[in-house]
Amino acid sequence: MADSAGRYIMLISVHGRVRGSDMELGADPDTGGQITYVVELARALIEHPEVNRVDLVTRRVIDPKVDPIYGEPKESLAPGVNIVRIECGPKRYLAKESLWPHLDSFSDNLLRYLRDQGRVPDLIHGHYADAGYVAGRMTSLLGIPMAFTGHSLGRVKKQRLLEQGMAEEAIEKRYKISRRIDAEEYALDNATFVVTSTSQEVEEQYALYDNYQPKRMTVIPPAVDLSRFTPPPRSWRNLPKIHKAITPFLEDWAKPMILAVSRPDPRKNIATLIKAYGENEKLRDVANLVIVAGNRTDINELDRSAREVIGEILQYVDLYNLYGKVAYPKNHDSSDVPHLYQLATKTKGLFVNPALTEPFGLTLLEAAASGLPIVATSDGGPRDIVALCRNGVLIDPLKSKELGEALLAAVSDRTQWKKWSNAGLRGAHGHYSWSAHVKKYAGIVGTAIRKSNKHRQTLSSSARLITADRIVVCDIDNTLVGDKSGLRELIRRLKNVGSNVAFGIATGRSLDLTLSVLQEWKIPTPQLLITSVGSAIHYGAPLIEDRGFDQHIRHRWRPEVIREVMTELPGLKPQGAEGQTKYKISYDMLEDEAPTAAEVTRHLRRSRLQANVITSHGAYLDILPIRASKGMALRYFAMNWGVEPDRCLVAGDSGNDEEMLTGNTLGVVVGNHDPELEKLRGEPHIYFAEKNYAWGIIEGIEHYNFFGKIRTHEPEFVNTEPAKPKPVNSA
Ligand code: GLC
Ligand code: MG
Repeated sequence: MADSAGRYIMLISVHGRVRGSDMELGADPDTGGQITYVVELARALIEHPEVNRVDLVTRRVIDPKVDPIYGEPKESLAPGVNIVRIECGPKRYLAKESLWPHLDSFSDNLLRYLRDQGRVPDLIHGHYADAGYVAGRMTSLLGIPMAFTGHSLGRVKKQRLLEQGMAEEAIEKRYKISRRIDAEEYALDNATFVVTSTSQEVEEQYALYDNYQPKRMTVIPPAVDLSRFTPPPRSWRNLPKIHKAITPFLEDWAKPMILAVSRPDPRKNIATLIKAYGENEKLRDVANLVIVAGNRTDINELDRSAREVIGEILQYVDLYNLYGKVAYPKNHDSSDVPHLYQLATKTKGLFVNPALTEPFGLTLLEAAASGLPIVATSDGGPRDIVALCRNGVLIDPLKSKELGEALLAAVSDRTQWKKWSNAGLRGAHGHYSWSAHVKKYAGIVGTAIRKSNKHRQTLSSSARLITADRIVVCDIDNTLVGDKSGLRELIRRLKNVGSNVAFGIATGRSLDLTLSVLQEWKIPTPQLLITSVGSAIHYGAPLIEDRGFDQHIRHRWRPEVIREVMTELPGLKPQGAEGQTKYKISYDMLEDEAPTAAEVTRHLRRSRLQANVITSHGAYLDILPIRASKGMALRYFAMNWGVEPDRCLVAGDSGNDEEMLTGNTLGVVVGNHDPELEKLRGEPHIYFAEKNYAWGIIEGIEHYNFFGKIRTHEPEFVNTEPAKPKPVNSA
């Protein structure tokens, strides 16, 4: 429901410590960049004119070991933006690897939250595998568009760990990696679109997935805080202090400065850069090379790979005799970095990143924001940056000669240099700011919402379960179906009534038989499907199974033993395969010979078996788990979705409907009912309609004024005591 008031976006980020201020980054491995990102994204989204509400949903944690704020159900980030904390398994803080068994319950609790809000988000966005799984469940249930951001991916991690020599079982045990990968595949199944930071992530990482659909993937460059980086002032009164660390190395510091800034890591490929410079005589003449590779006091104390890198620098400088031309300052601090770029810009130099691989390339953006053109490895990050900003060239990091030529060309062409410098400045701020990020994001969200809206407004969408405050639940055979014109009229009324009324069915049929009868009578998929005499609950139209209910009714269910013991009774013929489901054993009753439901119950009890026995039309006998029946399933639904039983209108015609007709629900018995229901006449809240089939349901809806201000026709005092649980009909 993209109401004109604005869009409601729900971000989900389950693990870690999520709070609005003083983020505890690094407090544990689960509280890092992703947490900063989702909080910043939530704040930035509300600034968009089309967005009027943002919820950032995370796990609620009550644990003396962590700050009490993580136990607060709600924390405001800005007007319209809240962190919403939802229960997920145990109260204590858990590492993300331990959350998997609790995500279904997290999803159910989130649904409950939505019910309480009475508003369905226009988009739900899962961050990381765990939230991707939750968002997938929500989206398949509610039919709303979904976005997924992996942040990092299980298959990539597994590959890397295997390469490092870790054994498959060890990876599994420590990281639960297959659960994570399954969740990612499931998220990809359901996502309307996937947000990635670079095209490399799409081409190399998501390509490892069964569900690789590059068309659904969008690169939205992350926002980068570039406020520390600006072009140099026109004139410097005092040159920055880092200048002093460089000049001792150089004959003429004012020549164009080719600057490289990176960790002293062999993968950064600094050796090739010096080689490229050293081998190109012309380049050596016109430009200086400045290499800033970490800090050192004593080279011998560096770790091995850093020692190697620094060793190579010294060696090549000596080999090519680059004294006076190459600077490699011993120390600098982070406040010097902006000045380094500025000095390079001042001299009309370049920033060079020759790393072997570069998925992102933050330094390239810092250089761009300082007005410094770039020469960088042709890999994911630099490719995206150069494509967006047009501020330099890409090179092959393995070819030193080419690199030297590219550098020479870049410092020699002044007109080009000026263009690149300006374009980089504009591009870095234009494409990598929060406002640019959100603008692109909102554009994609808008398209996704528009595409899904048409579909969502229909009667069959289960999103109605969120907005509904009442529900019409009908038996199928001899109630909903039987009279075509009555059925058409009922469907018409349900379609027109608005999103506060949901529609459900409760039937003895299995899900398959239900779907075929719905199709045969052209009935739209209801939002609630109670099938197999209340032993299964699904939500339509996507037919999501309520797994919680499945768990709930398993209690004491021993179908094998029941079947065996039942052979001892005469007069019952097992129904065919279509009558038998996981939680339902059904028989046809042979006239005269068949035992009553009470007799069957007694027989089972004597064999220490507990089950619910229900007969219908004097012809069918169903055995169900003790917690299953149409009435029980309806109450389970009502409780979980927060619809009071007295806002459930139920209609039926025969024995298996009895239990949902009694109690606080608003019962309607259709005119053509089986005589076995006569005994209910006169019971509170049970209306016996004159008319048959669907016309009888309509009559009942009118009797209770169910689409308006509901009338129960009962004396006021009836409800002063809590409703007694209804005894099972057969006991
Ligand atoms: C439906 C089912 C059948 C069941 C009967 C009564 O006809 O297909 O298995 O016994 O309803 O509940
Ligand atoms: Mg019936």
